[in-house]
This record gives sequence, C-alpha cells and structure tokens, in this order.
Amino acid sequence: MNNAYSIADLRSRAQRRLPRVVFDYIDGAADQEITATQNVRAFAEIALLPHMLRPTPDCDTGVEIFSDRLAMPVLVTPTGFTGIVWPRGEAAVARAASAAGSVMVVSAASSLSMEEIAQSSPGPKWFQQFIYKDRGVTLDLAARAEAAGYKALVVTVDVPAPGKRFRDLRNGFTVPPSLTISSGLDMMRRFGWLRQMASQPRISFPNFEGYGSSGLLDIGEWLNGLIDPTVQWRDLEWLRQHWSGPLVIKGIMHPDDARLAIEVGVDAVMVSNHGGRQLDTEPATVEVLPRIVEAVDDRVPVIVDGGIRRGSDVLKCLALGARCCLIGRPYLWGLGAGGEAGVTRVFDILKDELARALAHGGWNSINQVSRRDIALRQAFPWPAGFDSEATSQGKQQGGAA
Ligand SMILES: Cc1cc2nc3c(=O)[nH]c(=O)nc-3n(C[C@H](O)[C@H](O)[C@H](O)COP(=O)(O)O)c2cc1C
Repeated sequence: MNNAYSIADLRSRAQRRLPRVVFDYIDGAADQEITATQNVRAFAEIALLPHMLRPTPDCDTGVEIFSDRLAMPVLVTPTGFTGIVWPRGEAAVARAASAAGSVMVVSAASSLSMEEIAQSSPGPKWFQQFIYKDRGVTLDLAARAEAAGYKALVVTVDVPAPGKRFRDLRNGFTVPPSLTISSGLDMMRRFGWLRQMASQPRISFPNFEGYGSSGLLDIGEWLNGLIDPTVQWRDLEWLRQHWSGPLVIKGIMHPDDARLAIEVGVDAVMVSNHGGRQLDTEPATVEVLPRIVEAVDDRVPVIVDGGIRRGSDVLKCLALGARCCLIGRPYLWGLGAGGEAGVTRVFDILKDELARALAHGGWNSINQVSRRDIALRQAFPWPAGFDSEATSQGKQQGGAA
C-alpha cells in the first residue's frame, strides 16, 4: 500500500481489483451524479489563506466529540453491504479506524452483525439506522446497539424513497439481483476478489435476520419494504424519547431543518446528501455547511460528509465551522484495494495531508483554523431574501411539536 500516495490512487486500485458491479455500487450515485461530482468539486472553489512565519512545533490534529478524544477529525461514515467489497469488510474497517484513533459509524445494513462489529475492535462506535415502517424493529435495533456498546445513535432522514442509481440498474445490481451477462463475465475475471468471496459464507444483512426473512434475496426486498415515506419530525421526537445517549440526525441540507432538529433535541447535526446517492442536483454539502453552522449557532456540534478526499478538504470543513467530518467512498476504495491495510492507508494519507496543510498554513492545531483563513472563490448563491422567507415557511409547515 505504501506506493498509493493519494485517495485517488486507492480508488484506481479498487477499480482494477473489484468487479465492475461492486466498484459501481460503491462509486456510483443517483441520476446524472451531479451532486456526487459537485461534493468533490466544491472543495476546489475554497481557497486556504496561509499565515507565514508561524511555526507549528507540536501540531495537534486531535478533536473531542461526545467526550471521546480522537486522534484526527475524520470519522467513518456508515455504508451498507460492505462485505461485498472485502470478506468481513466491516471488521477490517473497525480495526483500521480504531488504530487510527477514529470513530466508526456502523450501518444497520452491515454485512456482519452489529454485535460482531462491536467486538472486533476497541475503538468507539456509533450505530446508524432509519425510522422504519415497523417501529418495533426500529426500537429493537436501537436497544441492541445500546447493549452492544454503541455510544451514539445516528438516524438517517434522507431516504423517503430509494435513489435511482443508473450504474446499478445497468449492471443488474438490484433487489432482486438481475445481473447482466457482461457483468457476470466481468466478475469471473476478477480472480482475487472471486476467490475471497467464494471462501466466505454468503453475505447478508444479519442485523435484520431475526425479524423477518433470512435469505439474502428476500431480505433485500423485505428491507426495501421497511422504508417509511411517512416519517416526520414527531417520529424523530418519539425516537429521541427512547434513546438516552447522543442522538445524531444524518442528512440535513437546509438550515431550517437544522433548527427543527435542535428543537427535537438532537445532540449533533450531520450535514449530508448521502454522497449524492439520493436526490441529484442537491448542492454540495460544503456549500450549505456555513449556513447550517450559522443556524445551529454553537448549540450542538455540526459534522459533515460528502466529497472529502484530501486532508485540506478536512481543514476547509473545520474552517467553515464543522467539529469533524466523515468519509465514505475513500475507505471503501481503500478496503477494495487492500482490505484492512488499504483502510489504514486511507487514514495515514489523510492524517499526513492534514498535518502538512496545518504546517503550511501556520496553524498549530485544528482549533486555530477559522473562517478568516479561507476564501470562497465562488460563493454558493442562496436565493435572494432566503432567510426571512424560509423561516416563516418552515414554521407554517409544522415544526417539531
Ligand atoms: C456504498 C455506500 C453505501 C451507503 N450506505 C449507507 C447506509 O447504509 N446508511 C446511510 O445513512 N448512508 C449510507 N451511505 C451514505 C454515506 O453514509 C455518506 O453519506 C456518503 O458516502 C458520504 O459521501 P462520500 O462517499 O463522498 O464520502 C452509503 C454510501 C455508499 C457509497
């Protein structure tokens, strides 16, 4: 892994090693993939303003969140079905994240059970789930997460319907699967991946096995049926009453929603557009971040994911007011390129790049970076009169109560 110098290098390796159907599942996004592209591109529109002659002898990349001190402000965002990338993929990610002093957010759609992942490394972990149609399953998963030692519950709110991902549709990576001949042949050619997959038990969604179906084919359909398009703020309020630990809302893109989330009593707001896998042509997360930070007004930490590929991207998020940020595809590419060693490499690269950016800018710790240290090449243009109009509309459409 030592001659992979950037996250882009690891992406290329993963692309060479994984079948197209698997690579596209992790790499792809909704519709024309405009939001996914913009998530990355928006960072190039933000310039860092370095300070000279300010030595940084003991540069500190550490951060604290929910009373845990992390070695770096980069967490692992939840991704489902990671076992398709590497056998027992979530355990490999958990070990690498723990060794890097990070936090892993485990998806309810993991391919190892949440209990097994919790046991696989000592590092802190959070559990991510939805508010499902079956509220009994919703509460039971949260109770299991608490019992297994997960510190925070992350509730994703940006999936009222599944996203339309053309790459998956074209490859036949659907529920139920409808693999094309060409993607089947391509799979046969990736010997390394094929050998590994053949040697592990069939992957599934073990967190859900006790509740409904057991086979991979019908559990996929059953899971899709669990998506509840009617979830609203009062449902989050209900879940808040049942979870006493830190509660994080994932999928916030609008400052009004950030305010409502705080009324409900969340402990952190996570700015996310699901990596562009849901509603295409949403703005980049880093474009909306400053307005959400403003709306939250220091009442709870704001965290963010989407398009973070470099240490300097991390620094830009922090300068715009995020407490820390999370990565998705980068660790999946690392995993696809080389399992645990690949994920470790992702953390090494980001930490090294972050430390270099801090040294170049004369910032001795991540806390020293502020809005004064960045320039936006092209400000994201919010609609004229946005604030006054949006606030009154948000109230009319029903607040948290
Ligand atoms: C393969 C894949 C699976 C994902 N599965 C989930 C999931 O189960 N739950 C969830 O809240 N978000 C899921 N996401 C979205 C990520 O948590 C995250 O918001 C996104 O990947 C961040 O963007 P990035 O990949 O550019 O870092 C998934 C993303 C990918 C790429």
